[in-house]
Amino acid sequence: MSDEGLRFPQGFAWGVSTASYQIEGAVDEDGRGTSIWDTFSHTPGNVVRGDTGDVACDHYHRYREDVALMRDLGVDTYRFSIAWPRIQPTGKGPVEQAGLDFYRRLVDELTDAGIRPSVTLYHWDLPQPLEDAGGWMVRDTAERFAEYAAAVHDALGDGVPQWITLNEPYCSAFIGYADGRHAPGRREGHGALAAAHHLLVGHGLAMQALRANRRGDETFGITLNMNHVLPATDAPEDVAAARRAELLGTRVFSDPVLAGRYPADEREVWGELTDFSFRRYGDLDLVSAPLDFVGLNNYYPTYAKDAPTVDPDPRRRVATDIGVVENPPAELPRTAMGWPVEADGLRRLLNWFATTYPRLPPVYITENGAAYPDVAVDGRVDDPRRVAYLDAYIGAVRAAVDDGVDVRGYYCWSFMDNFEWALGYSARFGLVYVDFETQQRIPKTSYHWYRDRIAAARG
Ligand code: FCB
Repeated sequence: MSDEGLRFPQGFAWGVSTASYQIEGAVDEDGRGTSIWDTFSHTPGNVVRGDTGDVACDHYHRYREDVALMRDLGVDTYRFSIAWPRIQPTGKGPVEQAGLDFYRRLVDELTDAGIRPSVTLYHWDLPQPLEDAGGWMVRDTAERFAEYAAAVHDALGDGVPQWITLNEPYCSAFIGYADGRHAPGRREGHGALAAAHHLLVGHGLAMQALRANRRGDETFGITLNMNHVLPATDAPEDVAAARRAELLGTRVFSDPVLAGRYPADEREVWGELTDFSFRRYGDLDLVSAPLDFVGLNNYYPTYAKDAPTVDPDPRRRVATDIGVVENPPAELPRTAMGWPVEADGLRRLLNWFATTYPRLPPVYITENGAAYPDVAVDGRVDDPRRVAYLDAYIGAVRAAVDDGVDVRGYYCWSFMDNFEWALGYSARFGLVYVDFETQQRIPKTSYHWYRDRIAAARG
């Protein structure tokens, strides 16, 4: 490709992403409380090999070294999340100054390195006492979240230009409360729809609190995970299945947030199984308050195939059992997660997004990347498949920009290998390899490639 073809618009932001529980470790330090991920990962059978985030990448102590690697990578911005239990160990009440101080040091370190912090307020580590009081199944958690958001913003606001309320409420609600494959590991059947709603209310209340205290040109938004959905075949059942997959995976969140409506087809799919009584008058206005940007996490497309529901008794069926299986074309390569690789899916998604929501704010790709079974040989880690993946997906973003979609930035998931939730340390997504025995960091081939790609994009 010519140099011109590699360029991105002036000011396009290049970044890397991580999340608190996945990298920090230091779970008992400086007054940190327990999160649902501590409880979940310490419960046998939940995480591959019994891995926990107790030490993770020890980033809590090694953040200076990590920021130095980011500086050498040449990124404009770093997206990380704040561990709520470090700020409010029980999920409410006065802030823990030692916890805040850690993030203040991190923000200062980044600023000195010329890297703009992008803060996610909630990337899944709910304080355990709030879960014990009902977690996202109860509305009170949304109120607590807004208070916490306001407290963090007060303390760090002047150093942080970009704020994200929630990361992927889909995963919190449905993997956490319907499937139970993630913390808190509950199987609430259709109750999980209440968790989805309360997360959105929490987002709305937090937005209100943040906007009321906006400083300078700070921006506020939310990150949603989304796949572009296509039917696996032209059969009408598969076309209908694709619509249901899009409802569950995307529109449950994007319709209220970006269009101020509940999805028209939700009652067809869930109507007989829930009365939606957890919704209150005025919630939609709150949830759809204008955003400065929307973050999008995308890894792969969904090819939806109609399939009989697992449990024919509707009373026992969970909210995620909508009679759909994923059936991607066999020729698509897969990552170590088993996710199909098709960069055009991201271009299609961005176009679908802009067409479906005419009032779409600027978009940031807040996560995109791939896991492969990397190995260190003589102090080097060569990961050509990750390079190929990133090259194709960044190309798809560029194509979407050319199509007219207002994309302002791209964050690679992840800066370094880390605790990949229920898969523990078995899935490596990093540009930087982490030896979890010694905590040695080794920049992979993809790290060097990304540095050069960013430089070429700037022209
Ligand atoms: C996303 C999560 C992120 C990471 C990637 C692989 O769903 O937001 O923490 O685990 O997937």
